[in-house]
Amino acid sequence: MTSAPARHSRIAGTGSYLPPRRLSNADLVRQLAAQGIETSDEWIVERTGIRARHFVDAGVNASDLAVQAARHALEAAGCRAEDVDLIIVATSTPDMVFPSTAAIVQRKLGVHGCPVFDVQAVCSGFVYALTVADAMIRTGSASAALVIGAEVFSRILDFKDRGTCVLFGDGAGAVVLRAGDRPGIVATDLHADGRHVDILCVPGTVSGGQVLGDPLLRMDGQAVFKLAVGVLEDSARTVLGKAGRDTAQVDWLIPHQANIRIMQATARKLKLPAERLVVTVDAHGNTSAASIPLALDVAVRDGRIRPGHTVLLQGVGGGFTWGSVLVDF
Ligand code: UT7
Repeated sequence: MTSAPARHSRIAGTGSYLPPRRLSNADLVRQLAAQGIETSDEWIVERTGIRARHFVDAGVNASDLAVQAARHALEAAGCRAEDVDLIIVATSTPDMVFPSTAAIVQRKLGVHGCPVFDVQAVCSGFVYALTVADAMIRTGSASAALVIGAEVFSRILDFKDRGTCVLFGDGAGAVVLRAGDRPGIVATDLHADGRHVDILCVPGTVSGGQVLGDPLLRMDGQAVFKLAVGVLEDSARTVLGKAGRDTAQVDWLIPHQANIRIMQATARKLKLPAERLVVTVDAHGNTSAASIPLALDVAVRDGRIRPGHTVLLQGVGGGFTWGSVLVDF
């Protein structure tokens, strides 16, 4: 008796979208100064590597950014929206309490019928969503998945808190993940440690028709920084171990784009040369679940990532959550 050939998932196309309103550090410094908040381009660049970010205008939601990114990914994959049989949106800034942003994206794409849901793992959301989509494809529950990271963090920033409001931006990135007879996604590794819920959170909620508690982003930056550097190295080694590969076989490292110092520290620990690090945090800021697919799309479209390359995607963020996905292109 011959067994059925193994089923795998492959990234067939990538896409991204940034809202047009771009704020350089100088723009933000001016805006904050008008409210009596002091910061500087020098501080932001030196501590984070961020030089600019994009913010949505009023009335633009995560689903609007997600749909644009999804359309670009579908076009790159040569896939019609009608052919997609799974939509997952990773977001912490959904359009509504419910239904899922994925359901709204499905409607805006003009399709219906396939399963759709959101994944809430903050800045690790995209690696979580990709891992779930990969598992669903390998087990035969889906054949062509849209996996999207989309965020409007500008909506949850406290512009009186200079320790956080200079860090984040809005945007979306997407991939089409298709079933294939070879990987594709080679290995995945996900983790969380709920003991650290409080170090990065938006602690408020809605109740009885009112906002209850604090609806803005709160972060203990130093605690997040220390945890992030340690877990990213561990997760990289774990996912490479699962795949039977070593760091020398990684062509591109795409970590969550939060802080250039965290990214460079991870690359150094893995002995990966800085040239193999894809960096978009300078131009996008921290776009949470959108940061990895945005950076991936930039590096695919500018020709750095080519067929045959191996890419290590790494997320880390609120929860505390973290994880890695190793992908052959
Ligand atoms: O997306 C999820 C993952 N998130 C992250 O990975 C974020 C991780 N954390 C970080 O990236 C860094 O901790 C930050 C960039 C948030 C902060 O950098 P830091 O080197 O840890 O600075 P700090 O919080 O220790 O603050 C140093 C100083 C403080 O002043 P004093 O107390 O030394 O006088 C802050 O008040 O910098 C001050 N400061 C600022 N100064 C000018 C904080 N924010 C600003 C600002 N402009 N925007």
